[in-house]
Amino acid sequence: NSPLRLAADKAGFLLGTAVEDDLVGRDTQYEEVVGREYNIVTTENAFKFRWTEPEKGKFSFKRAEKVVSLAEKNGQKVRGHTLIWHLSLPSWLSEGNFTKEEISSIFNDHIDNVVGGFKGRIYAWDVVNEVVDDDGKLRNSIWRKNLGDEYIARAFERARAADPDAKLFLNENSIETWNDKAKATYDLIKSLKAKGVPIDGIGFQTHVDKSFESKVSEFKEVMQRFASLGLEINITEMDVDVGDNPKEADFLTQARIYSKVLDSCLSINTCKALVVWGANDKNSWLRDDSGRKAYPLLLNDDYNPKPAYNDIIRRL
Ligand code: XIL
Repeated sequence: NSPLRLAADKAGFLLGTAVEDDLVGRDTQYEEVVGREYNIVTTENAFKFRWTEPEKGKFSFKRAEKVVSLAEKNGQKVRGHTLIWHLSLPSWLSEGNFTKEEISSIFNDHIDNVVGGFKGRIYAWDVVNEVVDDDGKLRNSIWRKNLGDEYIARAFERARAADPDAKLFLNENSIETWNDKAKATYDLIKSLKAKGVPIDGIGFQTHVDKSFESKVSEFKEVMQRFASLGLEINITEMDVDVGDNPKEADFLTQARIYSKVLDSCLSINTCKALVVWGANDKNSWLRDDSGRKAYPLLLNDDYNPKPAYNDIIRRL
């Protein structure tokens, strides 16, 4: 294993990457790097609804199985991402015309089959993803429109029943500062917990850029607030965007942001994982989105360590 993975293992800390199933079984260098550098992986796309049920009633775990088996071979834990999201739905579902009752069964079957199908193999599920809007209201997704606000509690309950040993997370973006969305997410989880809904953790996606350096101390306070609700904290999708044409100084800023976020996490005893959203810069989602260049991760295009990589080792 690499110095990074050895340091994480030694610290008893989970340091991970998102893994793109398309590359597994096709790119041996990618597989090798993922295996040696990280001790936990997140399925970047493989568990999204459009891939697990591409045709109505026909479940397919081909993609997910590739990522989960590779992780098992490498002795890595797996974060299952994600059960209930408003995006990445198959067209039969997003464009279909279903009654509330039909949506209800589709929802139940999805969770039961996916979680049940991987029972005992998943460290944590992102049960719901991005359910709060920036203004603090619940997002008006296909799920909420048909099932009402209770769909969130129901998703956790069904996931718990399907795999009692997996930790169940609510995953959210842009709540790294104490904004309206973060406050609403905090209130939501507090009320779910009060009702006995089985929620174990909060995932902070942490897609940030250079301007985040001045906000890391606020992020630490936000993590502390959520931890005080009795939650495990995971940083689930971190990347630090330094623009299209970064200079050496930008990579040093990037390294400081990664290290400060890691330090904040390590200072909270229920913060157990930091997962970055791609094994190296070349495989960042910020590239395939727009065709633009992006350099947000720990390893460069040739899988060589960047300043952030070495800084993380020093902090672990
Ligand atoms: C992204 C993947 O990285 C892309 O490959 C895919 O095309 C779209 O989804 N927040 C999330 C992730 O919770 O699921 C998203 O992943 C990135 C933003």
